[in-house]
Amino acid sequence: MKIGIDKIGFYTPHMYVDMNKLAVARDVEPEKFTIGIGQSQMSVAPVTQDSVTLAANAALEIIDDEDRAKIDFVIFGSESGIDHSKSGAVYVHRLLGLNPNARAVEVKQACYAATAGIQMAKGHIALNPESKVLVLGTDIARYGLNTSGESTQGAGAVAMIISANPRIMELEKHNVYLTNDIMDFWRPIYSDKAFVDGKFSNEQYILFFNKVWEVYKEKSGLELTDMEAICFHLPYTKMGLKALRTILDEAPEDIRERLLENYQISTTYNRNVGNIYTGSLYLSLLSLLENKKLSDGSRIGMFSYGSGAVGEFFTGALQPNYRDYLHIEGHQKLFNSRKEVSVEEYEIIFEETLPADGSDMELDISKDPATIVLSGTLDNKRQYVNKNV
Ligand code: CAA
Repeated sequence: MKIGIDKIGFYTPHMYVDMNKLAVARDVEPEKFTIGIGQSQMSVAPVTQDSVTLAANAALEIIDDEDRAKIDFVIFGSESGIDHSKSGAVYVHRLLGLNPNARAVEVKQACYAATAGIQMAKGHIALNPESKVLVLGTDIARYGLNTSGESTQGAGAVAMIISANPRIMELEKHNVYLTNDIMDFWRPIYSDKAFVDGKFSNEQYILFFNKVWEVYKEKSGLELTDMEAICFHLPYTKMGLKALRTILDEAPEDIRERLLENYQISTTYNRNVGNIYTGSLYLSLLSLLENKKLSDGSRIGMFSYGSGAVGEFFTGALQPNYRDYLHIEGHQKLFNSRKEVSVEEYEIIFEETLPADGSDMELDISKDPATIVLSGTLDNKRQYVNKNV
């Protein structure tokens, strides 16, 4: 039985900052951000969006009544969780009106969590072929104003339905994973901003990629020439390129060119959204699928990396007419309707956070065009609104 991605949705907030302008404001050459880091725009989340609303908005794009009835497992992958106890999945389950006979859990391991969710979903479908699993990768990347990580922030979510007989991508076998306890990036529970050892994190990302790739080749008997493209977790678009370059000499010139061309296409959306942590790898997959017509059956390599750290390499095979099941126009509209904010406006929005002392707050949701928004806090509870209900 084939198991894989049947649907894939995406949401990013309606505002972005231009990286050229951010560079000027930070007194660095714009090319450092646009070429050295490889980012053109960075999504900015208003206070009315959090990991729950981003995920719910991404899922809203893809689910229909049949999914509502058949989804019996919601996996919320995030490192921007809103509660240490209750999972974001339970809120999303209610906001989407899903079947009550469902499991709903949150999974955490930095940017790797959605991949863990997908692989857990695969096991669930193998045992329950009639059911569907909703996997969410949702985050707001925050390093702080004027920090070296600032240019690698972003916000957004990817939602995927994993099922039998998937219409987009079959998840193939031969996964290779790796865990090592390192401190390259982390966020202690008292901080709403990440701590990072930037250079070390870059090195570890590449090291993890090299290690899982070597074992993958041994285990699968496949090589670089068998990959139509490799999609990477993209904290910024230059990162995956650095990793890809370390193995390119394993392939002849024409394959190298194909992989490099497809890599660039796979960074299209990420370049304009920024890092969305758990969703970044799947946003890269979406960029590739929506911006190029690949042949049915093409094998896509997928490298997932979550600091701290866990890495995984796996592959997927594209299904016949997979492009018919994508939401290309909707995503073009989403990008075209975003509004640019100045660096000064972004700084104000960045500092606008919910009260940390438990006091109530009512938020102005009229300026946020998203269907699902956070309207405030009351009695230590976040208040969510689905404007369509
Ligand atoms: N024109 C073109 N390129 C320029 C340039 C210019 N004028 N000026 C600088 N550059 C280049 C540099 O040469 C460098 O390129 P290489 O990396 O290829 O050498 C690049 O721009 C970045 O310059 P620096 O290394 O000086 O940048 P930095 O020290 O200010 O910060 C960073 C870069 C370490 C990525 C930092 O943004 C950061 O810490 N980000 C967060 C951590 C991160 O994303 N790590 C990635 C791996 S961990 C992971 O993937 C998990 C996750 O999601 C966090």
